Amino acid sequence: MNVYDGQRIESMLRGRGMMPVADIALADLIVLNTCAVREKASNKVFSELGRIRDRKKPDALFGIVGCVAREEGANAFRRMKELNFVLGPQSYHKLPEILDNPDARLLNVDLSGLEKFDALPPMNDSPAVAYIPIQEGCDHCCTYCIVPYTRGRELSRDTGDVMRDVRAAAESGAVEICFLGQNVNGYKNSLAALITETAKLESVKRIRFTSSYPTEMTDDLIALFGTEPKLLPFLNMPIQSGSPDVLTRMNRPYGLGLYIGIVEKLRAMRPDIQISSDFIVGFPGETDEDFEMTCDIARRIGYINSYSFKYSPRPHTAAALMKDQIPENIKKQRLKILDDILTENNRAFNESCVGLTLPCLVEGPDKTGKHLLARTPWMQQVIVSPSAKQRVEEYKSKRVEHKTILSYSPTLLLSIRITNANKCSLRGEIVKS
Ligand code: 5AD
Ligand code: SF4
Repeated sequence: MNVYDGQRIESMLRGRGMMPVADIALADLIVLNTCAVREKASNKVFSELGRIRDRKKPDALFGIVGCVAREEGANAFRRMKELNFVLGPQSYHKLPEILDNPDARLLNVDLSGLEKFDALPPMNDSPAVAYIPIQEGCDHCCTYCIVPYTRGRELSRDTGDVMRDVRAAAESGAVEICFLGQNVNGYKNSLAALITETAKLESVKRIRFTSSYPTEMTDDLIALFGTEPKLLPFLNMPIQSGSPDVLTRMNRPYGLGLYIGIVEKLRAMRPDIQISSDFIVGFPGETDEDFEMTCDIARRIGYINSYSFKYSPRPHTAAALMKDQIPENIKKQRLKILDDILTENNRAFNESCVGLTLPCLVEGPDKTGKHLLARTPWMQQVIVSPSAKQRVEEYKSKRVEHKTILSYSPTLLLSIRITNANKCSLRGEIVKS
């Protein structure tokens, strides 16, 4: 969601004639897009703002958008008096107001629902992957999570509005559509119908969605994995913990049997499907036995591309007030154990891909400019070998001339033979385009 918000802000400012600069010291406007999900990310915002204040041009405007803006509200101006704007995740479309009135202080952390989607100017260039939000907020109220506070109640966008964005993205070069929502499969107007409609667009080659809540995985959506070839065989469906007691205290009322049953149904529909998850370790009251259950489920499902976090108490959440908060050193130990299991899963799956030829989506050249970076249908990164140097040059030249992107987009999907693997990524070579 933050990547999407960043792209929209960039596109909106380009529409006002602004261009990105590499160095903060040269910028006229600095927008820090923030995340409040964990305390550490939230705290870093103000130290980062201090660095920006000390390096920026004296008259440059600067401020924060996103969930920390909503979390802090007017207090952000007390913490840093020089700030020019503080805009929440549902009000960043108001950013141009500060350009029109640079002497004002702009504060808006309202939960204005879906208003921003209508207010934002259309994006006039899409990267290969277009992130399309279909809902805002979340009604699940997991006891650890600040999102229902920062992003508000769950609201689903109209299918017509979403499809308009999908078509615009496809027309300006997107090959992959990723539907977004905190509870994306809880989309009120049928996610399955949206995917089927999107798959009819010739230039869209790959479709995925994130992030899914287990109990909202309906049978029509599960069946689609077996019938819609453009839907990637990869699903992010966070379990968070493998302990029934911890799940109850997290207010995630699903049994392990139900979760495993969904995974089995998905695998029956699409035998090559891979599942990723988020995990929280050290939730209040988590015992060694609870944690062991999380490790068991991580091995048993064989998750790939997953994320694990130490529990972090957040304001406006019920878990922050629970007894039996877990000491930091135990959280750290548990995180290391779980990370090792998840890394081992990645390594085993990556190694099983060696020798396969896979359709991969090219994302662009790597930092050295000598390789191409691509994504497999399971979202692993593939570094494409130096023999593809010419491709890199070709990609770079086509990419800067946005108008030629459409004619180039079929070749953004390349057949790549996987030659090597490690725990983080794959290496491969182009078979044909
Ligand atoms: N502490 C640690 N991790 C959290 N997440 C959400 N809230 C917290 C918290 N208070 C994690 C969850 C979620 C991901 C986006 O962030 O795993 O799926
Ligand atoms: Fe937060 Fe996700 Fe739970 Fe919603 S479903 S409250 S976004 S963790």
